[in-house]
Amino acid sequence: MLNEALQYAQENQERFLTEMKEVLTIPSISTDPDHKPDMEHAAQWMAAQLRSIGMENVQVLPTEGHPVVYGEWLHAAPKAQTVMIYGHYDVQPPDPVELWSTPPFEPAVRGDDLFARGSADMKGQLLAALKAVESVMKTGSFPVNLKWLIEGEEEIGSEHLDDFIKDHKELLGCDFCLNMDAGVMGADQPSITTGLRGLAYYELKVYGPKKDLHSGLFGGIVHNPAQALAELIAGMHDKKGRITLPGFYDSVRKLSKKERKDFARLPVDKKMYLEQTTAPALWGEPNFTPQERLGARPTLEVNGLLSGFTGPGSKTVLPAWAMAKISCRLVPDQTPKETTRQLKKYLKAHASKDITWELTYLHGAGAALVSTDSPALKAMTKAFQSTWGKEPYLLREGGSIGVVVQLQKRLGVDSLLTGFGLPDCDAHSPNEKLHLPTWSKGIDTLISFFYNLAGE
Ligand code: BES
Ligand code: MN
Repeated sequence: MLNEALQYAQENQERFLTEMKEVLTIPSISTDPDHKPDMEHAAQWMAAQLRSIGMENVQVLPTEGHPVVYGEWLHAAPKAQTVMIYGHYDVQPPDPVELWSTPPFEPAVRGDDLFARGSADMKGQLLAALKAVESVMKTGSFPVNLKWLIEGEEEIGSEHLDDFIKDHKELLGCDFCLNMDAGVMGADQPSITTGLRGLAYYELKVYGPKKDLHSGLFGGIVHNPAQALAELIAGMHDKKGRITLPGFYDSVRKLSKKERKDFARLPVDKKMYLEQTTAPALWGEPNFTPQERLGARPTLEVNGLLSGFTGPGSKTVLPAWAMAKISCRLVPDQTPKETTRQLKKYLKAHASKDITWELTYLHGAGAALVSTDSPALKAMTKAFQSTWGKEPYLLREGGSIGVVVQLQKRLGVDSLLTGFGLPDCDAHSPNEKLHLPTWSKGIDTLISFFYNLAGE
């Protein structure tokens, strides 16, 4: 029963933390081929974890990329719902490593926080679900059926998960998906996420001479590729922060009055965003509030730039090439395909004839909107109310999670999105951290949620 499960979670907190630290030592960086063995190791760790909490038919299933971990427990009462719990065991690269106070894969507790790459995004959030399920399994009979879908490619666009879902429709059949990869608004402010932005990710290379040149002997007679790339990038936004790719806003859905009211109701302000970002000032389209720009407006970002000499000291050189990693956050009804067309059109129109360019599409995912009044959302609202003493806000987030659209499209299954990471968790940044008191509260919330689902 509920109280026994809550007590079990309380009594086993230390061990839960030890197990979380263990999985955080595995550098499961999905984008880096050198870490392929670590991906396998993390997948096997998840499979062992599923078995140890009483899941059955646990399998590590290969894909063309990193493996998917599956497990189930299907012995609830005949009419009970089937919940799929989604998670990902991969993480983003930890660089710049020198900015970490303690090494990214040596989890360290300081104050209320656990520091490690993946602590918040999302091994910690996934562990909250695993440990909530363990607490219910070990103290009673689980009130609903469970399936687990744990992938290793979320941070690189969930490219092979789409085919996996398509090929395992029966195995993955369920009533809804609980996705813990979204987080909450604050330690005192629960929230449920009802929308995510999509993504289209590119590498853009600009080539000039076939080799690096002496900038004195040849500077002034050839177009420097680093400069040419900078010019192209500079032209991708106008002075107001609007993206200039031809047709870019054509399929962007306009915000309704009701949607703008919902955004205005969120307990956020400019000062809070300044604190969270640590930037000297905010920037972006002036006709939209920051929360609207994050939740419902598309972007174009430069993720990284590389060209020429960047070592200590000086070298007078005219580089042969320059490269930018560029991505667009997409909103309904944009698609990665049309963004690619628009970016190519822009490059064709604006690249000068004295350089050549090459655009590579790396991965993408569509934007998602999920139900705002499902029974699952009501059960989670009730769980937040009883555990946090507060009603959760409903909000549209700026991040992307590929599986949400894939499940809608392939299985007609909707997702319930929340989590227990905080906005200042420094996901994808140095010194990523998980707020442990919120994490423990999260485990309790999920225990209540499972009982609420069965109407107990
Ligand atoms: N957990 C995040 C997504 C997220 C962040 C959702 C904040 C809601 C609020 C997820 O792990 C992530 O970072 N996804 C990538 C996906 C991309 C590579 C396709 C992202 O958004 O950059
Ligand atoms: Mn992430």
